[in-house]
Amino acid sequence: MIGKLNHVGVATPSIEASAAMYRDLMGCTDITPKFALPEQGVWVSFVNLPNAQIELIEPYGEASPIHAFLAKNPKGGQHHVCFEVQDILVARDEMRAKGATVLGTGEPRIGAHGVPVIFLHPKDMGGVLVELMQTPHH
Ligand code: CO
Repeated sequence: MIGKLNHVGVATPSIEASAAMYRDLMGCTDITPKFALPEQGVWVSFVNLPNAQIELIEPYGEASPIHAFLAKNPKGGQHHVCFEVQDILVARDEMRAKGATVLGTGEPRIGAHGVPVIFLHPKDMGGVLVELMQTPHH
C-alpha cells in the first residue's frame, strides 16, 4: 500500500518565477536553489511545506520530457503526484499485477531526491501521472 504523499510535481517555464510566487504570494520561505538533472531533462527546486513538498520542474535541454506538457500548458501546471513506498520493486510488480502501466522500461531510476522512482501512466490512474518513490525510512 502507498505511504505518505511526498510531493506534487509542478511543471513551470520558469522556476525563478514560480519560486517567487510561492515565496511572495504564499509565504513559503524554505525553497531550495534550483539544480539540474541532465539525465532526466529537468531543472528542479523544492518548495518545502510542513507536510510535503512542491517539486518545481523546468525543462533542461531540447529533449526534456516536459516540453510537450508546457506546449499544452504554457503557464505550467500540476504535472504529477508522488507517493512513498517502502520497496520500489515490490510496488512496481504489485501495480503491474493489478493492471497499472509502468512507464519506460520499468526499471527504477534515481529521481530528484536521490532514491529510486517509477512512474505510472495516467490512463490507469484516474488521469493523474503518479510517481512512486522508495523511502524505506518510514
Ligand atoms: Co517528482
